[in-house]
Amino acid sequence: MNYILAHKKIIMGVSGSIAAYKTVDWVRCLGREGAEVNVVLTEAAARFVTPLTFAALSGNRVYGAMFDSVDMEEIPHIKLAGQADLILVAPATAQTIARLAHGFADDLLAAIILASQAKIVICPAMNSRMYLHAATRRNLKILAEFGYKIVEPESGSMACGEVGPGRLPEWDMVRRELCAVFSPQDLLGKTIIVSAGPTHEPLDPVRYLGNRSSGKMGYALAAVARQRGARVILISGPTHIAPPAGVKTVRVQTAVEMRDAVMKYFSEADIIIKAAAVSDFRPARRSEQKIKKSNAQLNLLLAANPDILLELGQKRKKRAKPLVLVGFAAESENHLKEAQRKLEDKNLDLLVVNDILAEDSGFAVDSNRVTILSCGKEKIELPLLSKEETAGRIIDEIVGLLGGKLMVEKK
Ligand SMILES: Cc1cc2nc3c(=O)[nH]c(=O)nc-3n(C[C@H](O)[C@H](O)[C@H](O)COP(=O)(O)O)c2cc1C
Repeated sequence: MNYILAHKKIIMGVSGSIAAYKTVDWVRCLGREGAEVNVVLTEAAARFVTPLTFAALSGNRVYGAMFDSVDMEEIPHIKLAGQADLILVAPATAQTIARLAHGFADDLLAAIILASQAKIVICPAMNSRMYLHAATRRNLKILAEFGYKIVEPESGSMACGEVGPGRLPEWDMVRRELCAVFSPQDLLGKTIIVSAGPTHEPLDPVRYLGNRSSGKMGYALAAVARQRGARVILISGPTHIAPPAGVKTVRVQTAVEMRDAVMKYFSEADIIIKAAAVSDFRPARRSEQKIKKSNAQLNLLLAANPDILLELGQKRKKRAKPLVLVGFAAESENHLKEAQRKLEDKNLDLLVVNDILAEDSGFAVDSNRVTILSCGKEKIELPLLSKEETAGRIIDEIVGLLGGKLMVEKK
């Protein structure tokens, strides 16, 4: 949750696709985000899901045919068009897309969209051949030229039994697109590398040394940076989280692989956020065979892993292009003292520190309570926030740094 959609007036236009049933739940999800949702159904949509269902879930009257209005002093399409901050057409059928592309106003939804100055987001959903037909391609291109945001459908097996592009995307993906519509595009043109998750350091073919990092904080940072217009390269250790849409994801296992991936993209980055929990040590020797349970004790010899942040802090000194370098510190004691030392030793701009022993912040939970340290500035102690909100506040600080302070690169 990030409250970006809170209090936004959203019209959800549902057209007559088999995928209409999925958007029933989207109304609830939008309600949970604090948005005010009015649903407009096309005549065909009402054959798939009843207006009653949408009315019950949105808590609002559902609009259908143009001339259904009970209150004719208010012209419904003009009234609704004027109120909306955003119109989400989901699912958008080939028919509705064609109607919108050609400026028809022959049903309530199309008339509202013609009359509205709100932001418009279209989620096409149809059989793959309908989606790939030149007519639909051209119509979608026209809608994009109008400035409407088109959320690409997913590929996969469809209700008709065929496989290909045309499936309505999952809510998480659409939600991110909606949040992006309302987010400042203050990272447009910037490339950001985010590292996330743990590393797994193999001991033998079945065992590894790892840590409890879930990757949630890094993934939230990648998602928010993307929402705010950045090109994002997410370098991720092993996690169970789906990468945010529109983000280039590079998967790695070990600290050495993570180092290599970060260095590969180093020259492209304007911002690097190292949110990964990189293992400090790895087994000095990786056994080719599974280690047998033969001894009562087993001594493991560990070798130090590369310190990626330290290397980045050194490397930036020789670079012409300014770089904002942000580290994370997960400490269990003396966190602020340790963090201050890291900030200076590693030549960082910001260091985000969290107390991993607190129950409501740190590993694997959805919330976090962090302190942001920066060179020469008062520390910022953030309250307990969702990881998404925390990510937003960290990005705010980065944008502040980009806005001038880094014009002169560190010596
Ligand atoms: C069972 C069934 C499923 C359909 N699913 C889709 C669909 O997923 N996408 C689509 O573009 N049309 C689909 N159609 C066709 C549309 O319902 C039809 O083109 C209708 O005119 C769309 O009208 P509307 O855009 O005003 O809602 C489906 C029709 C039926 C009978």
